[in-house]
Amino acid sequence: MKWIVSNHKMNLTKEQIETYVNQISSLKSMNKLVFCPSNIYFSYFQNQENFQLGSQNVADRNMGALTGEVAVEQLKSLNVKYVIIGHSERRNILNETEEMIHQKLKLTLENGMIPILCIGEKEEEISEREIILKEEIDSAFSEQSNLDQVIIAYEPIWAIGTGRIPTPEEITSITKWIKDYVKEKYQVICPVLYGGSVSENNIEELNTVLNIDGYLIGGTSLDVEKLKVIIEKTEEEV
Ligand code: PGA
Repeated sequence: MKWIVSNHKMNLTKEQIETYVNQISSLKSMNKLVFCPSNIYFSYFQNQENFQLGSQNVADRNMGALTGEVAVEQLKSLNVKYVIIGHSERRNILNETEEMIHQKLKLTLENGMIPILCIGEKEEEISEREIILKEEIDSAFSEQSNLDQVIIAYEPIWAIGTGRIPTPEEITSITKWIKDYVKEKYQVICPVLYGGSVSENNIEELNTVLNIDGYLIGGTSLDVEKLKVIIEKTEEEV
């Protein structure tokens, strides 16, 4: 059983989300389906039994005066179970810091929700990939409790939205390295998802990677027909 997490990012209008929710309402899968729409659409995704709800982000502090942000307590009250933390678009475009990511992880864990911590290297950092991943894991994980709840999403930044993916051999060795590192240093077994240009065209190849516990899917998840292909092809592997 794998996680198939759809990250809509800043996409879809009200009309499009209504059609989308209609299309996914009949989806059945042995896999764990998680949808992360824009927060403004959470109400469209309520009371569904075949999938769970995730947020693309959370504030780095508790509920209170912070215009435009959404607190973990608010997400929880809307039945949101998963929270994507530290996505590279937030790190790089919105300058989200390691300290903020640390706080977001802390609040998510304290509230009994499941964080999906995104880590990954830029193209020019490939040769020092392990150093980058170590830094991202350590700054997020240090002095946290309940780390066994964390899911890690390995997303090479150069693969996001580009149509390029690492080879299955590379993904196998990186995901194994991540799992071994957190097990040895933090004594936890964290599932590791792969993200970055996952599509209906490369899913069979990706499913040959033994260490992958699922996928974080951006662009392709906006098209329910393509998402269905990914779900079905991944099901065959179960
Ligand atoms: P992509 O995005 O599937 O569009 O490459 C993945 C992600 O950013 O999570």
